[in-house]
Amino acid sequence: NQGALWGGRFAGGPSPELAELSRSTHFDWILAPYDIAGSHAHATALEAAGYLEADEAVRMHAGLDALAARIADGTLLPQPGDEDVHGALEAALIAEVGADLGGRLRAGRSRNDQIATLVRMYLIDHARIIAREVLGLIDALVAQAQAHEKAILPGRTHLQHAQPVLLAHHLQAHAWPLVRDLERLVDWRARAGVSPYGGGALAGSTLGLDPALVARELGLDRPAENSLDGTASRDVVAEFAFITAMIGINLSRLSEEIILWNTREFGFVTLDDGYSTGSSIMPQKKNPDIAELARGKSGRLIGNLSGLMATLKGLPLAYNRDLQEDKEPVFDSVRTLEVVLPAFTGMIATLRFDTERMAALAPQGFSLATDVAEWLVKNRVPFREAHEISGSLVRACEQRGIGLEDADDALLAEVSPHLTPDVREVLTIEGSVASRDGVGGTAPVRVAEQRTELVARAQSA
Ligand code: ARG
Repeated sequence: NQGALWGGRFAGGPSPELAELSRSTHFDWILAPYDIAGSHAHATALEAAGYLEADEAVRMHAGLDALAARIADGTLLPQPGDEDVHGALEAALIAEVGADLGGRLRAGRSRNDQIATLVRMYLIDHARIIAREVLGLIDALVAQAQAHEKAILPGRTHLQHAQPVLLAHHLQAHAWPLVRDLERLVDWRARAGVSPYGGGALAGSTLGLDPALVARELGLDRPAENSLDGTASRDVVAEFAFITAMIGINLSRLSEEIILWNTREFGFVTLDDGYSTGSSIMPQKKNPDIAELARGKSGRLIGNLSGLMATLKGLPLAYNRDLQEDKEPVFDSVRTLEVVLPAFTGMIATLRFDTERMAALAPQGFSLATDVAEWLVKNRVPFREAHEISGSLVRACEQRGIGLEDADDALLAEVSPHLTPDVREVLTIEGSVASRDGVGGTAPVRVAEQRTELVARAQSA
């Protein structure tokens, strides 16, 4: 078998069943360009250490370039007998430059240090793509907040009407977790930039190759401090999978609200036709499928993370073949987010809000009762008593089927002598929202300041 990287001590080749189980080319071929980059760097290290003559190194790099071109245009593909991307590419290199030269490249490296390095390179590239997409979504949320600076939303706790808030405050509350996801990706990158290349199978190399040179050539920050750890740990992969899962969860929470807001009962938003779907039987339907798919796929992202962690938990040092199972889940998480995020951002950017309806519902459910209590506190009534008085007013209004703002002077006085007609100054939505002007509050000035801070944090991540 051409592509086999081992066999000397075996009497025969692998059984077909083993070959079928062992094969990973159907998913690890995506790493082929990184494998070639690793081989270029490794050839440079071999030349620097005197294992390749200058002209041999030139031919080696040219051969690798030829393979890279054929990988890019799709004319080089793994063969059925190839076990993995590394074996397939060694066979292709030997076919390209001959066995004498091609057979020298494997000196001082193992598939174990190769794969541990390549998966980091792949994730670093995709972290950049995902970060750009997340930033685009933050921009879309900020643009909607800016376009609806004055709009009011019935704020909820326990999904019940609680206190009115600015729609912008609410949208920005969905943007902050995404800003933290960006920051998580930056933190992760500092740990991911380690190159296990040169660690060999587990114990390091005898050949005096320079792992710092390889790391530098690959755009990584430094070689792994410990060859066992470098080849056998995958916490960097698990951490990346966590960040993708967290992004998924954050999208899912916003999705849930969009799905609710888009119902006839809420009627807060209208989805753009380009970002909603119809029904095959009910002609009138316009469904929030993007939000539902984002919500659904967050389960898949969480599954990828927990599957990977379960794979890792029992593994003794050093490399075990179980580690091959790190790739499919994390590749799937990358692909999932790279498809979900652009659609999700388009949906947010084109969302239309019915601000009149939101404002009309905001005072319902006695959502200004806390404002009444706090007005009483400002008039020196102890909060405990103020809470009681405001609660009694709610009860009195509820019995009469009216809102707090409809209580006349007589009713106010009947509930408590503290409730003078002046209390009406806080019985408007605008007054309520404007008065919550503590740091992080929903007052328009605070929300605008907060937006500036949010944008600055997102840009600097
Ligand atoms: N395909 C393996 C992986 O993804 C790398 C090859 C290591 N194989 C081995 N028998 N040591 O982890």
